[in-house]
Amino acid sequence: MTEGSRTDETIFTWGAPPLKFGAGALDEIGYELSQFDVERVLILTDAKVNAIGIPQRIEDQLAKYGIASEIFDGVHVEPTDDSIDKAAGYAREQGPWDGFVAVGGGSSIDTAKAVNLIATDGGELMDYINAPIGRASSPRGRLKPLVAVPTTAGTGSESTAVCVLDILSMRVKTGISHWRLRPTLAIIDPLLTMSLPPEVTACSGMDIVCHALESYTARWYETYARKQAEERVTYCGSNPISDMWSEQAMRLAARSFRKAVHHGADDVAARSDMMLAATFAGMGIGNSGVHIPHANAYPIAGMVRNFHPDGYPADEPIVPHGMSVSLTAPQAFRFTFDSAPERHLTAAALLAPEVADRGDPSERLPSVLIDLMRDIGIPNGIGAVGYTEDDIADLVPGTMKQQRLLSIAPRTPSEDDIAEIFTRSIENW
Ligand SMILES: NC(=O)c1ccc[n+]([C@@H]2O[C@H](COP(=O)([O-])OP(=O)(O)OC[C@H]3O[C@@H](n4cnc5c(N)ncnc54)[C@H](O)[C@@H]3O)[C@@H](O)[C@H]2O)c1
Ligand SMILES: [Zn+2]
Repeated sequence: MTEGSRTDETIFTWGAPPLKFGAGALDEIGYELSQFDVERVLILTDAKVNAIGIPQRIEDQLAKYGIASEIFDGVHVEPTDDSIDKAAGYAREQGPWDGFVAVGGGSSIDTAKAVNLIATDGGELMDYINAPIGRASSPRGRLKPLVAVPTTAGTGSESTAVCVLDILSMRVKTGISHWRLRPTLAIIDPLLTMSLPPEVTACSGMDIVCHALESYTARWYETYARKQAEERVTYCGSNPISDMWSEQAMRLAARSFRKAVHHGADDVAARSDMMLAATFAGMGIGNSGVHIPHANAYPIAGMVRNFHPDGYPADEPIVPHGMSVSLTAPQAFRFTFDSAPERHLTAAALLAPEVADRGDPSERLPSVLIDLMRDIGIPNGIGAVGYTEDDIADLVPGTMKQQRLLSIAPRTPSEDDIAEIFTRSIENW
């Protein structure tokens, strides 16, 4: 990596919750929660996951261990300040709770993190939201146990210490970031993903690929100025431990991503690989961080006007997180190539071993991504989700506000660089 620009930073941090992984793991949730001495827990989910019946299975397992529970199924797909306030209001009114279970995709897990924070630590959502939008206060004490049960293979939110949400009045996405948000335990059962529609499999899978790639190409931790103990942040740049998880995530996605999209209803092995890939990538980004594609995704998703992809709730326009992240990734990795060519080439070879030595080196990773996105039905660029060249001046400030992410990029982009990345991403092929 960019060893030449080393500073005197010598320390990186890495954290993840205990995990229980494998087919049938969900059936052990009653025993696991009984170990935390809880009597009454709130299960948070969205309406569709609730309709599939997974939260009810959790209630039944908890009852076997004498644990009472209630299901709140009002999670908004891609949470907002409003939807989190409603969920936290419900938790406060119906509480107290001894613990929380999040069951669903990143939307449910992130909502449960924020609800646990507000219901347990007190205060308002804005107290905790990252500055400058919120007050970025740290929780004062320990939160209640939160068990995360992902039902998508994507975000890795079950192992990260962040929660992402839309602030509706400002049309921006931002988040809360603090190590105390990390779930207490993750129960990861690949069988829960068998019912995922191909479109959600494709979008959440692109989130995995981008997590692994952005984590792997993030600025090396030793290139930052030395921090004091109390200044250490959740995202500390790429490091030997996050690299290991990112590389494994890419190998698994290379083997199974296309199969999971095209044969997801019956290919248990492909679903298991993708669930493991999501977990591994989460253990990478949860510590090193993500950069330009994720920073660009915030305005792409936040300013959506009229895009309604199949597989997602039809009542509101949405550019799903994984889709929004992937749309500028090919161009972002063209921009970062020179900062760490060997990392980009290794990543391309991990994702597509068969094309490892072909063509212009700087084009290898973008073309591997484009082939993949075409095969799994991702729209062709930001133009295909409704943006034109006239929108670029409005998109750029949304990216530039994400300085926390841009500071992790291996090459720092200017406003003009971001405008060019958007322009060249109107069509990716
Ligand atoms: N905290 C983090 O570290 C982190 C990281 C990346 C993304 N995120 C956030 O996560 C959210 C996206 O989460 P996601 O991609 O996991 O999807 P999601 O939770 O938004 O769900 C997407 C859709 O899939 C449905 N669904 C979920 N599981 C299903 C199943 N098993 N069968 C059928 N349908 C199912 C949902 O009902 C919903 O309609 C975004 O808000 C994003 O910002 C958080
Ligand atoms: Zn993501």
